[in-house]
Amino acid sequence: MMSPFSYKNNVLCAESVPLSAIAEQFGTPAYVYSKASITSNFAAYADACKQYAPGGEATLICFSVKSNSNLAILQLLAQCGSGFDIVSGGELLRVLAAGGSADKIIFSGVGKSRDEMRLALSHDILCFNVESIPELHRLDAIAGEMGVRARVSLRVNPNVDAKTHPYISTGLKENKFGVAYEDALATYRIAAALPHLDVTGIDCHIGSQLLDDAPLLEAVDKLIELIDQLAAENIVLHHLDIGGGIGIDYQGDKPVAVGDYLQRLFARIDAWRAARHGGKPIKILFEPGRSIVGNAGVLLTEVQYLKHGSEKNFAIVDAAMNDLMRPAMYQAWHGVQEVIAPQRSDTVTYDVVGPVCESGDWLARARPLAIAPGDLLAIMSAGAYAMTMASNYNTRGRAVEILVDGDTTHQIRRRETPQELFALESLLK
Ligand code: LLP
Repeated sequence: MMSPFSYKNNVLCAESVPLSAIAEQFGTPAYVYSKASITSNFAAYADACKQYAPGGEATLICFSVKSNSNLAILQLLAQCGSGFDIVSGGELLRVLAAGGSADKIIFSGVGKSRDEMRLALSHDILCFNVESIPELHRLDAIAGEMGVRARVSLRVNPNVDAKTHPYISTGLKENKFGVAYEDALATYRIAAALPHLDVTGIDCHIGSQLLDDAPLLEAVDKLIELIDQLAAENIVLHHLDIGGGIGIDYQGDKPVAVGDYLQRLFARIDAWRAARHGGKPIKILFEPGRSIVGNAGVLLTEVQYLKHGSEKNFAIVDAAMNDLMRPAMYQAWHGVQEVIAPQRSDTVTYDVVGPVCESGDWLARARPLAIAPGDLLAIMSAGAYAMTMASNYNTRGRAVEILVDGDTTHQIRRRETPQELFALESLLK
């Protein structure tokens, strides 16, 4: 789908709603999401699964909750049939509160606590994506105490280079995630021997913001080899989980089309099943986050002050690094668009910065903009890893969140008040 954010009568709109009207009604900073964009991004995966899955093979798309965990967005995705990839007990409770079903939840992460395991077992989630041998033992013990069995998949590190930012590349040997490829068979044998575990699958996640599918296909080939070796030892896996999805266009990036990626992926799986897997079925799981929500959201902010210096010009806006951490943390690039299309061509180059007392508090650097104080800017591609990574640094309440559906706006999270920010604290007696 085309960007849900486009100019109509010179005003940048979310679907049919002018962002200026949203700023007027709800104030700034505000995260604004497009419902149609989220559902069509999800449909790109779901439709390709329908179209290409080998022999009508079972598939499950588990939206990666960490990318955007607003209840209304989880609810919308649950209504589309999505499952969920969670990384904490908090995310589990969110998904359930949003109407997601436990039998479509997979639980990832290297540090699951005992309480989180108990909570997830009490809801009988679909699968635990286990990342280490001690985690296998802890899960087995807790399942035993509760008199239940835990379904597990092992996150295997296929050691392929995802060629993305080092902070979001996870498939190489040198990081904390998963079980090393060469240790995978031995770890599966341990899991299979534990009395309260059912070994059901294999998973990986090699990194995020992948523009090319070649590393993903390479990872699948390596997982398939393990599935064959395990089958030879009578450890039969029922699902293969490929981890996160494709990257998005931030700065003229050209991500591979989701449909093309899935077509290639299912072609490989089909060929393998026919040649080496005795035609037996295997369920395929995906954990996309960024590609579902990333370009479905913007951060709407108002210019407060302009500072013109001898070296640099600054546009000081009312959003900051606590709202959108990606630039400060990863030097991430986000587009910046004037909400009212400038009628003049005399732009000035600005660093767009926030009010937080840190030099690292910047949202965009060296952008040509024609702006005055009071003007609105949209920070683009801010639907993923944006609000979920927001903090209250400088005792700033987090932004309001708005979901636009055609010409209707829904406030899906209100702005935090200062009192709420310290309500959990107490004075000394
Ligand atoms: N599955 C697992 C196990 C993951 O760790 C992740 C993301 C995903 C799925 C979703 O991947 P996606 O489809 O979104 O690429 N905060 C960083 C991104 C961190 C990604 C963490 N893992 C950022 O702002 O770019």
